[in-house]
Amino acid sequence: MDLVQRPRRNRKSETIRSYHRETWLAPQHLIYPLFIHDKKDDEAIGSMPGCSRLSADGLAKEIEASLAVGVKSFVLFPATPEDVKTSLGEESYNPDGLVQRTLRALKTRWPDITLVTDVALDPYSSDGHDGIVDEDGTILNDETVEVLCRQAVSQARAGADIIAPSDMMDGRVGAIRETLDGAGFTEVSILSYTAKYASAFYGPFRDALDSAPKHGDKKTYQMDPANAREGLRELFLDEEEGADMVMVKPAGPYLDVIALLSDETTLPVAAYQVSGEYAMLKAACQNGWLSEEQVVLESLMAIRRAGADVILTYYARQAAAWL
Ligand code: PBG
Repeated sequence: MDLVQRPRRNRKSETIRSYHRETWLAPQHLIYPLFIHDKKDDEAIGSMPGCSRLSADGLAKEIEASLAVGVKSFVLFPATPEDVKTSLGEESYNPDGLVQRTLRALKTRWPDITLVTDVALDPYSSDGHDGIVDEDGTILNDETVEVLCRQAVSQARAGADIIAPSDMMDGRVGAIRETLDGAGFTEVSILSYTAKYASAFYGPFRDALDSAPKHGDKKTYQMDPANAREGLRELFLDEEEGADMVMVKPAGPYLDVIALLSDETTLPVAAYQVSGEYAMLKAACQNGWLSEEQVVLESLMAIRRAGADVILTYYARQAAAWL
């Protein structure tokens, strides 16, 4: 053929391919979500092979192994015994709650790690919702935000570096910022779950924490998977309210939303490769249908290419080791 342009010339060796590689992925781009519980032993999570609800010892081992491969940021998700859950989720701001105790212990042992905490009531709610539920099933916005502010301050007091509200209540970022500042925590960051969708991909996470809604669904607060522009609206509000970083969640099925938000904001953008994305990859790999290292790194690279600065992923430690 008489071709002037032969794009393949730019792909003919690894050296040449690396000249014009646009996206890179390194351990510094990964945040590791971990499940914790108040028991002596780790407990495997059926729908998330390779992940467990960790005891204090199990958590320490996991963190040590992660630091060794360059993962330095962790999110803590607590499994709360059913008898501690209430309709108002008071355990969320218990100064001696599992998350608060764990934050203090980790910061004492590793002062330099970065600890992210989730703000929402679902792990503590007897209704399994992120907010307070009215008698008629309505999720109460403003009443919930008050509790979230208490939760955020108690986490900051215990040593959280980044507070990550995942509840999707209106006005919570501004209220949390004001409350943190009022309590003297001006240095604590807010990573807002900005475009968080009402997704079926959270199923395994809810198994892990036994936190599925007891009735109804989360569609009156989490976003409709059909919408992208609504994510911009949430972005602009979060920016006005003082978010330091914004998040899109899930990640893989929402790459367009990651691209949209990262084009529109000067803030760092995070994306959450959620439990269902992990479970899909894991299941196919365990069956020998996909090659785990390649497919996981490709999925993470694609999320970075779409515009995410940082990725929350249950593959963080393993991916960092592969890198
Ligand atoms: C709690 C929360 C959820 C996830 C992170 N924080 C569950 C939900 O909103 O129902 C899901 C994470 C995952 O699936 O990995 N608000």
